[in-house]
Amino acid sequence: MRVAVVGGTGRVGRPLVEVLRRGGHDAVVVARSTGADVVTGRGLDGALAGCGAVVDVSGPSWLSARSPRDLERFFAAGTDRVGAAARRGGVEHHVVLSAVGVDRLTGPPLLAGKRAQEERARRGPVRTTVVRATPAHEAGADLAALTRTGDSALVPPVLLQPLAVQDLAVELARVAVGPPRGLLEVAGPRPEDLVDMARRTLAARREPLDLRASWRGTPFGPEAAGEVLLPGPRALLLPTTFDSWLLDVWVPA
Ligand SMILES: NC(=O)c1ccc[n+]([C@@H]2O[C@H](COP(=O)([O-])OP(=O)(O)OC[C@H]3O[C@@H](n4cnc5c(N)ncnc54)[C@H](OP(=O)(O)O)[C@@H]3O)[C@@H](O)[C@H]2O)c1
Repeated sequence: MRVAVVGGTGRVGRPLVEVLRRGGHDAVVVARSTGADVVTGRGLDGALAGCGAVVDVSGPSWLSARSPRDLERFFAAGTDRVGAAARRGGVEHHVVLSAVGVDRLTGPPLLAGKRAQEERARRGPVRTTVVRATPAHEAGADLAALTRTGDSALVPPVLLQPLAVQDLAVELARVAVGPPRGLLEVAGPRPEDLVDMARRTLAARREPLDLRASWRGTPFGPEAAGEVLLPGPRALLLPTTFDSWLLDVWVPA
């Protein structure tokens, strides 16, 4: 199948394109660097024409540092433009990557953007699958990089069930070449503490940083405590544990 991957040069998009190509599919990379822009609509008609499915894994640069309004605008406009180009191009399946917790937490800016994206995709002209995923194993270190000032950083004491981006790519490819499924949840194999993930990732990379657990100064407030960011009982659990992912991050002394 010919499958357009919007955001096909990003952290999720790049392995998704590889998995599709390894499976014998024709993956079309759609990004600003390949001449298409979801915000303005530039290049989308040409990229999507004749595809069987489009998977949108785009996100604005500095995703985690954006305001809720900014993210709502990006994901609403992008989803509308992709949906309209998909309809014009005869595409039958529009897959969007959303986030677990989007229906339970209002605070984090990314979730505001993902709510807008889900609403637009569901109201759009092409049948959809919304894949709600948990954060990646990189999330602890990403959060520390976002809040870092000097030699210290803040990480919220959040419980989540992180996944390997490679596993997510395999699942997104499977979804893309199948029929529209409405909504599904995917997650990593077991719960982890974000502060512990950040500490262990930075230690493995030999990046010394004074990490403090804090709600203040991070995108998450105390409403994210407890099990609110964990997947539901029907989520598909992907295999790679945080511990085994970390073995590949580890830098020898
Ligand atoms: N587990 C996870 O990692 C996870 C979980 C849930 C949801 N997600 C979602 O997955 C998406 C991608 O995350 P990521 O970490 O892969 O992001 P990323 O590495 O920053 O990649 C973003 C991609 O979007 C493209 N892009 C940015 N602005 C664009 C525009 N205006 N038009 C077209 N393409 C544009 C970028 O390419 P150019 O710069 O060349 O345009 C790039 O290919 C995000 O929406 C994120 O919320 C990820």
